[in-house]
Amino acid sequence: MKHKIKYVCSNCGFESLKWLGKCPTCDNWNTFTEEFVEEKKKAQKRKFVEPELAKISSQMNELETRIKTNIEEFDRVLGGGLVTGSVVLIGGDPGIGKSTLVLQAAQKISKDVMYVTGEESVNQINIRARRLGVNSEKISVMTETDLDLIINAIEKYNPQVVIIDSIQTTYKPDLDNTAGTVTQIRECTSELMQTAKKKDCAILIVGHVTKEGMIAGPKVLEHIVDTVLQFEGERNYSYRILRAQKNRFGSTNEIGIFEMREDGLHEVVNPSIIFLSERDKQITGSVVTASIEGTRPILLEVQALVTPSSYGNPQRVATGFDYRRLSILLAVLEKRASLRLSSQNVFLNMAGGLRIDEPAVDLAVCCAIASSFSDKIIKNDFVLIGEVGLGGEVRNVSHIEKRIQEAIKLGFKKIVIPKNSSGNFKLQNAIELITTENIKETLNIVLRN
Ligand SMILES: Nc1ncnc2c1ncn2[C@@H]1O[C@H](COP(=O)(O)OP(=O)(O)OP(=O)(O)O)[C@@H](O)[C@H]1O
Ligand SMILES: [Mg+2]
Repeated sequence: MKHKIKYVCSNCGFESLKWLGKCPTCDNWNTFTEEFVEEKKKAQKRKFVEPELAKISSQMNELETRIKTNIEEFDRVLGGGLVTGSVVLIGGDPGIGKSTLVLQAAQKISKDVMYVTGEESVNQINIRARRLGVNSEKISVMTETDLDLIINAIEKYNPQVVIIDSIQTTYKPDLDNTAGTVTQIRECTSELMQTAKKKDCAILIVGHVTKEGMIAGPKVLEHIVDTVLQFEGERNYSYRILRAQKNRFGSTNEIGIFEMREDGLHEVVNPSIIFLSERDKQITGSVVTASIEGTRPILLEVQALVTPSSYGNPQRVATGFDYRRLSILLAVLEKRASLRLSSQNVFLNMAGGLRIDEPAVDLAVCCAIASSFSDKIIKNDFVLIGEVGLGGEVRNVSHIEKRIQEAIKLGFKKIVIPKNSSGNFKLQNAIELITTENIKETLNIVLRN
């Protein structure tokens, strides 16, 4: 039988009859892959049964039940644990530690866990389990890629938690397409979703991320699953961050921080200490700021290096910070603080491999740049908190008290905050709280010494 061919965008699932270089819906390049058009099965006469309707109030007695992974960082990102009957997708770059995370969670979950792997043999799993100290009677391992057999096993053994590692290797045999295609991923995921609902178990699906930093078919899967988590980290750092991109049962602001060691992932309970640990004592272009990730304050070092540019266009490089935001702040510094930065190369780095999108770090970014540019040190007992507006004004930020408390806890003595910060701060005598109205005033304070 000859198959018809269609082209599917591996990012958003858009289908086309001819190959396209750029997807017209999600604007990504080179995402089209060839897939077979699934043959329509002959329509059978369907018998309709009376549909069942329920009232919202009548379901109130079945309150959501959560299964704790007992890894605090993981539970926090999930919003308090895995909700039974839900499907969670964990995406991440190859080798980032997805299998490690789910295996460690399997060990700590106090329910029956079925670990289905299509990527590794039982022996390979055992080697990893031994390294991680995972040794539990409650975990059963299955090496299988055929979805029908996996669902059969779930129905037979009734595990409360199922882990599928990974969705790209799982396939439904009655589809013509090969494993990993958008059609297969979509069909397998929605079937798993139905199984989770029917058996009232929680299913964790591991998904690989394409080189563009997306889970293959993310847009397609995002709608189907309840929760999408992203496990990320810089290759050169041992820190790993778990973020929620979508969560039907919790906030998407929370992050979980882990450290990858030989014996597996360790929770980082006090991230500030780690992100500040490699801070060199007194150098120009280095300042500390307090950012809020989820509900937790994290102190981190902002580093800037400003050098004269000898040819044409000066370079601007931002690591862990939005490039456009950096351009705006440079323009503000030029106009409002009279720093001649247009002929300077500017390199900005959030130390420790963190990525910060919060405007509350603006003030620190500006001061780090000004410090490097003017070759003046900002004393290392300063913490700078504030958003910088286009007029050079320093604006109020949220959770100012939490940030101040964290700075005090870590022994900082001088805390610079926006002038109109609201809140009552309980301060010890030794702490100097400095309020500032605009960037020029701030630079005068911090660069004075
Ligand atoms: N002996 C070891 N000592 C320290 N770290 C190790 C050791 N073995 C593995 N690792 C870490 O574990 C990571 C691999 O973890 P894991 O297999 O869980 O990743 P993954 O995201 O599931 O990868 P894949 O995409 O291949 O499935 C490695 O990149 C490495 O950082
Ligand atoms: Mg893996």
